[in-house]
Order: sequence, then structure tokens, then C-alpha cells
Amino acid sequence: MAKPTIIVTRRLPEPVETRMMELFDARLNLDDKPLSRAELKAAFATADAVVPTVTDTIDADVISAAGPKLKLLANFGVGVNHIDIKAAAAKHITVTNTPDVLTEDTADLTMALILMAPRRLSEGERMIRTGTWTGWTPTQHLGHRINGKRLGIIGMGRIGMAVARRARGFGLAVHYHNRSRLAETMESEIEATYWQSLDQMLGHMDILSINCPLTPETHHLLSAERLKRLPKHCFVINTSRGPVIDEAALADALKSGEIAGAGLDVYEEEPKVHPALMGLENVVLLPHLGSATLEGRVAMGEKVIVNARTFFDGHKPPDRVLPSGH
Ligand code: 8YV
Repeated sequence: MAKPTIIVTRRLPEPVETRMMELFDARLNLDDKPLSRAELKAAFATADAVVPTVTDTIDADVISAAGPKLKLLANFGVGVNHIDIKAAAAKHITVTNTPDVLTEDTADLTMALILMAPRRLSEGERMIRTGTWTGWTPTQHLGHRINGKRLGIIGMGRIGMAVARRARGFGLAVHYHNRSRLAETMESEIEATYWQSLDQMLGHMDILSINCPLTPETHHLLSAERLKRLPKHCFVINTSRGPVIDEAALADALKSGEIAGAGLDVYEEEPKVHPALMGLENVVLLPHLGSATLEGRVAMGEKVIVNARTFFDGHKPPDRVLPSGH
């Protein structure tokens, strides 16, 4: 039987591409240039499966170009906000993602930002690199203590829990807001306080970490109005998706001193970063590195392969993403 044709939209780590070539008729993107909408549509028209990433916008229009063979979208990544899941389901296209294998790496990066922003670490590094460090003084470059502060986590899923476990080790008190409250055993493991009302939680936090997925409900969840509820000394950390925060309002709040600082790994219109953020000292800016470890990206690729292989062997793949309400 002919091997299924799988179109991979970006370069993946070498061992993943090699295995894909062995198992499938894999069409790789060797120059790693993001596909244009027309190229994406052409891929949909011809492939048995497409392996997209966060840089591909797979809306209803792209999905409408799917040929009769296209049965699987095996996303390389856990977040699927760039895929119209409903439109895919309507065309009987199965969608899979890569949960679990990037949880610890993303939580590590979140913790890194939780440390970097209050301790002003990027500013310190810039001082050395620009040759402006004139030596130690008792009052130079003072940041804020992490230990004993309150961390509010928005979205207590796998990554939120992994952040909470790390935060306990750094002496932070964990608070969280989630659509549903955790089971008692999980809540007591991380000694967390549940806030049903996000608006009420915000006013009490020293550090706020966004760890929920981007959905129509969480778009601009941290709005201009909600940013105003945060205490002036609060730091905002985002390793989820940019549009969960109103980025322009965040830049205003950072500039006016309405909040103390921020640590961002994601942006509303990647790779663009709001110009007002670029000139601010009190924000740490990272280029979407959450899951960027070699081990993590190979494991994500292996998940894509398992999902595709299981699917083409005629079984239900392990990491199916169903439209909400299913
Ligand atoms: C990935 C991510 O790098 O998995 C996700 O949802 O945000 C990142 O860790 C990227 O999305 C891969 O498509």
C-alpha cells in the first residue's frame, strides 16, 4: 500500500524528519519559509495529512481547500488556537496536538520569567553589555523579593500545575483562577487558594502568570479594565498566547507605572512586538521560547508521528482535539 503523503509546514528536529521520511511519504519544508495562504491551500488540496505549527493560520477558508484525501491535521504544538477546529470537524478532518511533553519546559520558562522580571535581570545584563556597569553599590539595581509573595495563576491545567509546583519551591503562595476548581488532593498538593472570581483575585496578587489556552472566551481576558485592578507593585508573566492580554493596554500600564513590570514570551501579532514595549526597561521580552528545548521539540515530533501512525493504521490517535462541546 502507498505510504500516506504528509506535508510538514516547517523544519522539525533532524531525528523527527528522518523518522517521518521512513514512515510516510513526507514532504518537508527544507528552507523553513512559512507557507503562504495559497501554498497552505495547495498542501490541503493534495496531502493525506498536514503537520502545521503555530505559525500557520488554518481558518475555515484554508480548510475549505482540503481535497478528498485530507483526513488528518497533526499539529506540532499543544495550542490549537490557530486552527478552526469546528470547520475541520465539519469536513471530517481529525485534529491532534502534542500535550504533556512540553509541560515541564514551558513551566521552567515561566519560572525563569517570574524570577527575571522582579529581579530586573535583563536590565542587569544590558548594563554589562552596554559597558555602563561601574561596579557594586549597596543601592544599585534593587529588584523585589520572590519569597513570600503571592502568585496568581490564570489557567490551572497541566502547565499551570507545573508552574505552581516550582513556585512552592521558591516560597511563593499559590492562588489560581480556573473555569473549574481543582480536585482537593491536587489543591492541597500545591497548597493553592482558588478564586472563582478573577476580578477579585487580581487585586491581591504580587505576580500574575497567564497559563490558560487562547480561546474566544480568553481573548483579551486581561483587558485594560482588569489591568487596572492589579496592585501597582504587581508583575505580569505570559507564556501562553499574546492575545490573552490586551498588549497595547499592557504597554500603557507598564509605561504609566500602573503595574511594576512584565515578563513576556508571546505577543499578539508574532513576530511583531508592540513598539511601545520595545523601549521599556521594566519588561522582559523573549521570542516564544516556552517549549524550545531539543528534548522537548523531539518529543513533540514523536507525538506527531505516533498520532499520524495510529491514525493511518485505522485507530483513534491518542491526542485528538475535539470541538468544544464534544
Ligand atoms: C510551540 C507552543 O513552540 O505548543 C505550543 O502551543 O506554544 C509552543 O510551545 C509552538 O506552538 C509549536 O507550534
